[in-house]
Amino acid sequence: SKPLRLGLAGLGTVGSSLFRLIDEEADLIASRAGCPIVVSGVSARNRLRNRGIDLGDVAWFDDPVALANDPSVDVFVELMGGEGGAAEASVRAALSAGKPVVTANKALLAKHGNELAELAEDNDAVLAFEAAVAGGIPIIKTLRESLAGNTISRVYGILNGTCNYILTRMERENLPFETCLAEAQRLGYAEADPTFDVEGFDTAHKLAILTSLAFGTKIDASSIYVEGIREITTADIEAADELGYRIKLLGVARRTETGIEQRVHPTMVPKSSAVARTDDVLNAVAVDGSLVGEIVLVGPGAGGNATASAVAGDIVDVARGLKLATFGRPAKMLAPYVQSDMHAH
Ligand code: NDP
Ligand code: HSE
Repeated sequence: SKPLRLGLAGLGTVGSSLFRLIDEEADLIASRAGCPIVVSGVSARNRLRNRGIDLGDVAWFDDPVALANDPSVDVFVELMGGEGGAAEASVRAALSAGKPVVTANKALLAKHGNELAELAEDNDAVLAFEAAVAGGIPIIKTLRESLAGNTISRVYGILNGTCNYILTRMERENLPFETCLAEAQRLGYAEADPTFDVEGFDTAHKLAILTSLAFGTKIDASSIYVEGIREITTADIEAADELGYRIKLLGVARRTETGIEQRVHPTMVPKSSAVARTDDVLNAVAVDGSLVGEIVLVGPGAGGNATASAVAGDIVDVARGLKLATFGRPAKMLAPYVQSDMHAH
């Protein structure tokens, strides 16, 4: 059958892993998708960079917007990052043309998710973003599809692989913060600007997306209380250990009587809890549902292959013709975000 042609913008950690996956697992993916999946065009900043992948005769575009608009592209895959700029412009171009978009970009969704969901709907296009939260963990589909019959009272967890990796290595090997961060960057876990990781903003972006899915509200990242891990020392970690706790950077969203509470900060968690036992680049997301009770999903929260896994799943959904409301209900029916008046911080 006719191949589904991807325009792939961004050939960094995630983009190059996805490119390799599509090449090496072509038969498996085609059998799942019901048609061959091919990359028809790519875009990145530096055409000459060695990425360890053979682009062959795939068309190169300096401008991701031109790639999104190109008639040879059926699905636009945005893996560049950034809350605006080229990512926003190209995603808008693709959706405006009615093309499905698959992205891993939580910063973009936290800032413009409400408008982009409306744009997708107005143009009968899909906006898929499983990879944007907790890397390889299928938490978007879990909240939006699998738990659709539940009233959700709370969603919380470890949502940043870089921070969890840093805290784990500081604790285990007594290494300095900066050494652990440099290693997380080398492994491809960190954001292009790692301030987003260590200051808690990346966790906040992901939490804002989960809040919308869990509570049916519009995304509001600006009202999140955010504190990162830069001030955490090995002495803090040791003190927590003596009391029976571990320190984890958590994102927490909770429904209260007056509204929704969203916060991100380092938290002492009892050693016996599921989040305390989540180490290295793993993330853990816990959801309290009215029917199911508490479920906890644990898995790799960052890294090329884990993230490409989630992106590939979305591409297969698109190939199968799956059309789901971006945040679980029509964008115009999402309730306004109302901030809880409880100040837990
Ligand atoms: P990288 O920094 O490794 O790669 C970014 C890519 O985008 C590079 O190939 C870069 O080009 C290209 N790019 C950047 N700006 C432009 C532009 N203006 N025009 C064309 N190309 C551009 O990022 P990652 O692969 O790590 O992350 C990509 C996205 O996935 C981000 O949104 C990130 O938040 C998200 N994500 C990342 C995860 C991870 O583990 N790394 C996990 C989950 C989500 P060049 O190579 O030439 O510089
Ligand atoms: N920088 C992010 C992290 C990538 O470390 O979790 C995954 O979203």
